[in-house]
Amino acid sequence: MVSLVVVALFLLQGALLQPPQAAAFKIYTTDESLTHHRITEAAFLRKMADVCRNVATARGKDFTLPINSKLTATIVQKACSNAFSSLLKLSTFNLAIIQTSISNAAVDRKQFSTAHHFDDEDFKNGRDLITKGIASVKVSIKKGNYLSARTSLGAVCHTLQDFYSHSNWVELGSTAPFSTLIKPELPLNNIAGPNTKTCRNCVGEDCSDNILPDVLQQKTLTSGYFSLIFSSKPAGKCSHGGFFDRTSSREPTGGINKDDISSDHGFLHKRAAEMAINATMEVLQDIRLATGDQAFLRLMGLRQTSVLAFVIDTTGSMSDDIEEAKRVSFSIIDSRRGTSEEPSEYILVPFNDPDFGPLTRTEDADLFKRSINSLSASGGGDLPEMCLSGLLLALAGAPQSSDIFVFTDAAAKDLELKSTVQVMIERTKSTVTFLLTSPFSFRRRRDVSQSQGFTSRSIPLSDIQLYRDLAHVSGGQAIEVTKATLSLATAVITDASTSALVTLFQVVRNPGIAENFTFVLDPSLSNVTVYVTGDSPVFTLYSPTGVSQSGSVADGPLGSILTVGNLKRVKLNSTGQTGEWKISIDSTSSYSLKVTGQSSVNFLFNFVERLEGGDFTPKANRPFTGRNATLFVSVTGGDSVTVTDVLLVEASGSNVVNGTIKALGATDFLVNIDRIPEWPFVVQLKGLLNDSTTRSLPSRFQRQSPTQQQGSRFTITAQPNSTIEPGTPFVLNFTLVTNATGGSYTIRARTDRSFSVSFPSSLNAGTEGSAQGTITLTAPSNTESGTDVTLTIEAEDPESSDSNYVALRFTVMTKVTDFSSPVCQIVSIKADCPVECSRASWELSTNLTDGNGTGIAGVSLSRGNGSLSLSNVMSADGTNVTVAFYNASCCSQEVELVAVDRVGNVGTCFTSIKSPSTTVSPSGSTTVSPSGSTTVSLNGSYSVSFSMCVALVGLLVSFLYG
Ligand SMILES: *[C@@H]1O[C@H](CO)[C@@H](O)[C@H](O)[C@H]1NC(C)=O
Ligand SMILES: *[C@@H]1O[C@H](CO)[C@@H](O)[C@H](O)[C@H]1NC(C)=O
Ligand SMILES: *[C@@H]1O[C@H](CO)[C@@H](O)[C@H](O)[C@H]1NC(C)=O
Ligand SMILES: *[C@@H]1O[C@H](CO)[C@@H](O)[C@H](O)[C@H]1NC(C)=O
Repeated sequence: MVSLVVVALFLLQGALLQPPQAAAFKIYTTDESLTHHRITEAAFLRKMADVCRNVATARGKDFTLPINSKLTATIVQKACSNAFSSLLKLSTFNLAIIQTSISNAAVDRKQFSTAHHFDDEDFKNGRDLITKGIASVKVSIKKGNYLSARTSLGAVCHTLQDFYSHSNWVELGSTAPFSTLIKPELPLNNIAGPNTKTCRNCVGEDCSDNILPDVLQQKTLTSGYFSLIFSSKPAGKCSHGGFFDRTSSREPTGGINKDDISSDHGFLHKRAAEMAINATMEVLQDIRLATGDQAFLRLMGLRQTSVLAFVIDTTGSMSDDIEEAKRVSFSIIDSRRGTSEEPSEYILVPFNDPDFGPLTRTEDADLFKRSINSLSASGGGDLPEMCLSGLLLALAGAPQSSDIFVFTDAAAKDLELKSTVQVMIERTKSTVTFLLTSPFSFRRRRDVSQSQGFTSRSIPLSDIQLYRDLAHVSGGQAIEVTKATLSLATAVITDASTSALVTLFQVVRNPGIAENFTFVLDPSLSNVTVYVTGDSPVFTLYSPTGVSQSGSVADGPLGSILTVGNLKRVKLNSTGQTGEWKISIDSTSSYSLKVTGQSSVNFLFNFVERLEGGDFTPKANRPFTGRNATLFVSVTGGDSVTVTDVLLVEASGSNVVNGTIKALGATDFLVNIDRIPEWPFVVQLKGLLNDSTTRSLPSRFQRQSPTQQQGSRFTITAQPNSTIEPGTPFVLNFTLVTNATGGSYTIRARTDRSFSVSFPSSLNAGTEGSAQGTITLTAPSNTESGTDVTLTIEAEDPESSDSNYVALRFTVMTKVTDFSSPVCQIVSIKADCPVECSRASWELSTNLTDGNGTGIAGVSLSRGNGSLSLSNVMSADGTNVTVAFYNASCCSQEVELVAVDRVGNVGTCFTSIKSPSTTVSPSGSTTVSPSGSTTVSLNGSYSVSFSMCVALVGLLVSFLYG
């Protein structure tokens, strides 16, 4: 229960600083109520199982898995791997669900409009948010921006799911989702007018009968009014209800929300939540039809294995390095083609001076090969290169937690980007490894002319130190080798480009000292590798049984050691024992140590903010130093994992802060940190793995986040907006809050795409310790729809050099004006089918048009295994018509055609030659129909069924649908 004190405090602080969330289905909860997270997860699992059932059936395989509330990610992943005959990834499936849920949760934190939550009968704007959001998911998928697609999808799901909790759709006795919400071309009818009274007082606490009988009888749609601050509402209107809603104390008292089982209409919570799951599945199906199965699998995270991402300097002296990048990538591609270890995506960013980019991102290995083949080293100029600009493009373009490799032999010119690169590393949790050639003649190219070549001059250490710093912050390495030995060092790329790579342990010491480190190897691990980088550190490795091997022994009892440049890579014997290992290192200069392996057991974490009412939402900035904080931790790939410790470990020292763990179900945890430390840290997880197949005791395991995180003494927040229009300036306000008074902060704002950004150069926090700023962001007018852009707003305290940021991701989208789905018109059906169906075939001819829309982009079959042929003709009135001709065996009696237009509106067209149905629907259209599906009998020979009733009966059937 929430205490009164919370509200009083909030009202005292004023609504503008930290408003609590609008009420909605809870984000995380401890009772059996269904949360937004569980609703979204259930919809993902059920839709995915449904897709895999279709695939299995189409391939003649058995699929016996029942699609119900008992599905788990592991069960679905196994069944789907079987259906697709390839191992689909569990960890990234979990990740996709979490990413979508996180963005779903953010709506409660950041978006308070009535439309976002279907409060106050704001149906039209709510529907607009949903349909625009779905359009944005589709353009993002088209451009391959899956994280953005999930972000938009999460926001859509939130609003859509809230409809079922906040409106009276369920109370009206509806048995299917309100499809009109995802179909902009359908009229929104039967909405209560502004003067229509909808509710009466609850009887004491009992609100089970507070909706007026007229409203129920006439199936009028309404939703509850809600306000945190004011108690007024239009006369006779229903309230949301509950503790935070001040309108519910006013007549008619009480409310109608079904947010959880203790809500005013909590007796309908389960039903509303189940309906919300079905509605979410309907959106997923629409997206699937618009984008195709392969893209849909990627959206669901099931097709991501690993990414190969290169950022390559292309100046004159780099030709050997480019050759080596080619060799190693071709060898990875060719040796893994068709296996589960084949990279799923390739990223390439060239840079020199003054140019960098473009970013090539593709799933097509051959296209990547062509792109890297076309790189040639040329020019050189006399200046360092645009390395960080290139890296920034790669960080923004790569999926989260990618391994990115940078090839260069020169210092970075664009040093001013260092803090932005660091922010992007923290945000994306991607790892950056630098392959620096000729570092001992690490040149600034302006010296080249003076010294007649690429040698001479010892390196300014600061140049290399920049790369080392960024590598260490990200959990990567700065490998310094000669051009002649680069081909040995690229083994690290082959090591990292595998799926299921996990980090067990990692430390950086600068300056170096003699120290002993321990780490635990567990039975789920394979291919364990230890990397030591630094100027000739001396080390010895000890196995749990006390066997040791010195770092100078290339082939020993514990493994084989490769030494190249400043790198030593130890590949442990595959018979490597489980238990506690020790490494003892001695070095006077800086070094880094990293232990990785392959395992399905890993973890994800996010700092979250606790909201009033017990919900959580992810933070988009650094946590407050010295204050408490909460981590949301999700363990993937282990159905029988016990988490014992979650620690913040000092990145370059031995301090540790211990978190208090609270389980939220089997694999999710909330971890309270009492005090965010002053120092940068990594997150370490320890626990026990239970192996149910053997009788052995549980074994210890540990994992660590490769990327460093840090706190700040101030924070920046901004209202996110998920889409911007090309060519139109977008104005955004942000707020800086510090616990100190006064002080001037330097502000920087930039995008990863060099879009134009204007911002104040500094802000003064004043005596109240806060300040507001405004940023104007403009995407060039020729930016393609679906392009992703990340805006980072950074603030730095020039005195302490403490800094914080907020990173916002936008999708650039031209205003969608085409909201109409392709239309299907059946021209003829010839079906003269004998009882013995295999002896004959039937055929269907249809005309598909997109009316005034953007035009049909593709037609495919989503049901039926006959053959489809398409042709384009121009009709008499000048519209483009796609003629689809379908021919199938009489044994295959159903067909569903899917037509998608250029903005992703989907029209489907279902035809069956099964024995005629007798149900005839009343003609006309009823948008608030309790039944979502109607069967119309046509001419006694076939039936056409479609989801929301727009019926015309006749020989020619024309309908909008999808
Ligand atoms: C959700 O869909 C399933 C499958 O179509 C159906 O059995 C179930 O009754 C639906 N649930 C609700 C609450 O409409
Ligand atoms: C590390 O361990 C070795 C062997 O157990 C021991 O001799 C040495 O003193 C330890 N060094 C440090 C710095 O603790
Ligand atoms: C990783 O280990 C597995 C099994 O232990 C082995 O088959 C595979 O070749 C190894 N992969 C690499 C990249 O070494
Ligand atoms: C691996 O272990 C075996 C058996 O302990 C040993 O003979 C061998 O030298 C070790 N090293 C390598 C690189 O195989």
